[in-house]
Amino acid sequence: MIKSALKRLEYRGYDSIGQVTVDGGRLYVKKDKGRLEEVDAKYNLDDMPGSLGVGHTRWATHGRPAQENSHPQTDCENRIAVVHNGIIENYLDLKRELEAKGHKFQSRTDTEIVPHMVEDYVNQGMSLEEAFRKTINRLDGAYSLVLTSADRPRVILCARQESPLVLGLGNGEYYCASDLAAFLPLTKKAIILEEGEMAILDPNGIKILKSKNGALVKRDPITITWDPESAKKQGFPHFMLKEIHEQSRSLRDALRTQRIYYDLLASKIIDADKVFILACGTSYHAGLVGTLALAKLAGINARVVIASEFSDEALDLVTPKTAVLAISQSGETMDTLNAVRDAKAKGASILSIVNVLGSTLMRLSDVYIGQNSGPEIGVASTKTFTAQVTVLLRLAATIGRKKGEVSTREIGDLEDAIHKTPELIERIITTKAAEVRRIAEGCSNASSICFLGRGVSVPTALEGRLKLLELSYIPAIAYPAGESKHGFIAIIEEGFPVIFVAPKDETHKRVVGNIMEMKARGARIISIIEEGDEEVRDLSDQVVEIPESLPSLVTPIVYVVPLQLLAYYMSVLKGNDPDYPRNLAKSVTVE
Ligand code: AGP
Repeated sequence: MIKSALKRLEYRGYDSIGQVTVDGGRLYVKKDKGRLEEVDAKYNLDDMPGSLGVGHTRWATHGRPAQENSHPQTDCENRIAVVHNGIIENYLDLKRELEAKGHKFQSRTDTEIVPHMVEDYVNQGMSLEEAFRKTINRLDGAYSLVLTSADRPRVILCARQESPLVLGLGNGEYYCASDLAAFLPLTKKAIILEEGEMAILDPNGIKILKSKNGALVKRDPITITWDPESAKKQGFPHFMLKEIHEQSRSLRDALRTQRIYYDLLASKIIDADKVFILACGTSYHAGLVGTLALAKLAGINARVVIASEFSDEALDLVTPKTAVLAISQSGETMDTLNAVRDAKAKGASILSIVNVLGSTLMRLSDVYIGQNSGPEIGVASTKTFTAQVTVLLRLAATIGRKKGEVSTREIGDLEDAIHKTPELIERIITTKAAEVRRIAEGCSNASSICFLGRGVSVPTALEGRLKLLELSYIPAIAYPAGESKHGFIAIIEEGFPVIFVAPKDETHKRVVGNIMEMKARGARIISIIEEGDEEVRDLSDQVVEIPESLPSLVTPIVYVVPLQLLAYYMSVLKGNDPDYPRNLAKSVTVE
């Protein structure tokens, strides 16, 4: 049963599998990196005794995919086993505390501190439930945790903070899972565990408690009407729309990356004679924002190069003192890997920002930062773009602080704005989606559409164009707005839709001028503006307002969201499949 539940979770993407059962006063653990069928072939997951067990598909955030980093993680005596989704931010401090008490750690995961801490409290005489509750109250970050113990063979404990966890009520059986899809064929009766709650599953049923004070929580089960396919999309019609909505959480997770990684990358970049950023597609657009941030915040003259052009355009300039920062969601894009290998062969330091830990790019890197966006299934990158930009801004700020290029105050303002983006994006999606849909309806018959922006909004415009082009198949155009009068403007005619990315930053005045140029030739002006920007609103036929003023460098993270939604709605309106657009692959592993 556990194996088939894991099979139903495979769609989410993972790099390791593990299972634990409890029987005869001991734990049985089988786990390793690899696909379910590979691990099953090696260990025979069906051959595990007991009527209670937990399975896990791991998506690495701490510690590359490896047998010892797979879940469950156990305590010193292998009597407590824990599986975990999420990121425990303060795990290094807690690990040091436990090591000082003699605990021995087997893995490089953040998760392993949980079974050791529970073990510690149980050894101090606490009940398993109390020890678990005390432990989770010491954790900072996001988690959905499930714990089993050899000494309590008929009990499962679980808890959540941000990361999802659902409970299932079967016929004399009880389930907990990070995703309804896991147990939906077994029961349609479910209870959603809310933030800051824990649950105790035993043969008598399910008990829910407040993690903070142990107070009992009463909650009736709901009946799930979704079929297994829509359960995977959590009720969204497409993975892309689900992933656009997941951005507030993926950004919070990106913000949980340990400072140490930024410091390591920053030192490499500061010591370098030259800095190249290389990437493809959406990651390249994030790289464009990265170059601007490094220049403005750190006085670093980095050059961003499309990976497939790197060997022709820049390889000759690479020396052993050069730093190459590669950006890739999948970490498997062949053009990016080839450029990295070429630079590595010339002795360059290879740095990377990746989403898939354990990927080839991560393994080729001297230092990497995991962006923690979680699995992205839709071919069109959305949540990984906003996370990449977030990581790049923080990296530039770290270098700026180390070099004394920016004041602590400036960094503070930038950090505050970045920390606002998750909630702001949630607000934009809930309040502006209908407006964006109307814009899509108005543009769905356009033969072409153009995206214009200035400064840091050029990458935002380029990303909006790429999303629309790859999903609607409309030959869209994007330009630095100032450049548009040197050619592009020739194709403007009555009603031609021109989308301006127009935050109220240092480029605003000049963008207003460009809007007037387009309007004078009959273009239909659609603008993404800051709320209350009367000037551009009055010049535009349709607007989407961003309800907060943001530092210019932070605007791509937020102003891109209406453009992601626009591309999604255009794709649906045109009857295309937003998740699997024609001719494209999620990871382009050919050159
Ligand atoms: C973007 O929506 C596309 N999926 C594509 O351009 C993608 O960004 C590009 O192939 C790079 O992928 P990577 O980040 O996995 O390297």
